[in-house]
Amino acid sequence: FHVDWDLVTAEKAGFDHFMLKEIYEQPKAYRDTMMGRISEDGRKVVLKEIGMTLEQIQGIRKIQIVACGTAFHAGLVGKTVIESLARIPVETDVASEYRYRSPIITPDTLVIVVSQSGETADTLAALREAKRNGARVMAITNVVGSSVAREADDVIITQAGPEIAVASTKAYTSQLIAFYLLGLYLADKLETRDEKWIADVLTAMNQLPEQVESILDQAVVLKQVADSISKHSNLFFIGRGMDFAVAQEGSLKLKEISYIHSEAYAAGELKHGTLALIEDGIPVIALITQEELYEKTLSNIKEVKARGAHVLAVINAGHEGEVSKSVDEMFAIPRTLPLLAPALSVVPLQLIAYYASLALGHDVDKPRNLAKSVTVE
Ligand code: G6P
Repeated sequence: FHVDWDLVTAEKAGFDHFMLKEIYEQPKAYRDTMMGRISEDGRKVVLKEIGMTLEQIQGIRKIQIVACGTAFHAGLVGKTVIESLARIPVETDVASEYRYRSPIITPDTLVIVVSQSGETADTLAALREAKRNGARVMAITNVVGSSVAREADDVIITQAGPEIAVASTKAYTSQLIAFYLLGLYLADKLETRDEKWIADVLTAMNQLPEQVESILDQAVVLKQVADSISKHSNLFFIGRGMDFAVAQEGSLKLKEISYIHSEAYAAGELKHGTLALIEDGIPVIALITQEELYEKTLSNIKEVKARGAHVLAVINAGHEGEVSKSVDEMFAIPRTLPLLAPALSVVPLQLIAYYASLALGHDVDKPRNLAKSVTVE
């Protein structure tokens, strides 16, 4: 009797690729990242890892979020989360720009670096630049003991577990969870939101893992979408507000592993140029999850539809009736608070990217020209 143990196959735990396994690990990653960080009564965020005194928190005048790639896209969501919850102005920068643009860093600036690996050269250089200028630096990273974790003043570890696929999925969504926790923590300390409001957000956050599971259960629908997208060489992602941030991540994911060119556009900006590229049959993936921007995005969807685009809308469950007339296909995510929608709406985009890469026969886990961690400039 002889068993050939293939370690890699064993590590994939029955999934064809690490990326798919990691997409399916997201409910667990959400739970693990929240675990131990919410008070027993469910009403407060507890971040023991933050060493700032109340006075120091009250003294923060500006936050700069700095990161690369997918982690930067998490930072775009983080900006809205922190600004709306804690009312502190937030700038976002890709690290390779930040380090050379002489950013205005003062001792009352909090710099938040986001990095799955904690080893990205540009992100680390940005961290050092921030410290040299006297800012306090917080890191959101997935790797305990990484360079970024060691050099930052405060560290929030995302509990995504090891991420092997080059295209980041569960690390990104865990970074979103970290930003939600941080935003709520700051809101509590700065008293910008009351306790009941914070408790309600935490209740909604606790539902996210199950809601992600219900999206994953519909993967077959997204495979069909991906199969038809894989026949195109160009497409657009559009959205407003946090939907635009997620659109950028969806577009990057698709480019990285399927090599299909796509662009993410702020839906309201389309008419200032990009609309010229909309022609018959071009796929447009529109995100429309933000209640207060709903009508505005819908009218942008109608603009591309009128020019022949084939529109897939990622919508909130319950909106099917109103949206169906204006689009070709819909994918509904479960109802949550608008602020939390990115933690759900990105999941169908990850699956579309995965299945498109698969349909085109590419190496999903190891896309050409890319590395998991870029430790040189
Ligand atoms: C590389 C990876 C990306 C990642 C980026 C930042 O480009 O391919 O998936 O988002 O680095 O990595 P970090 O480890 O700093 O999050």
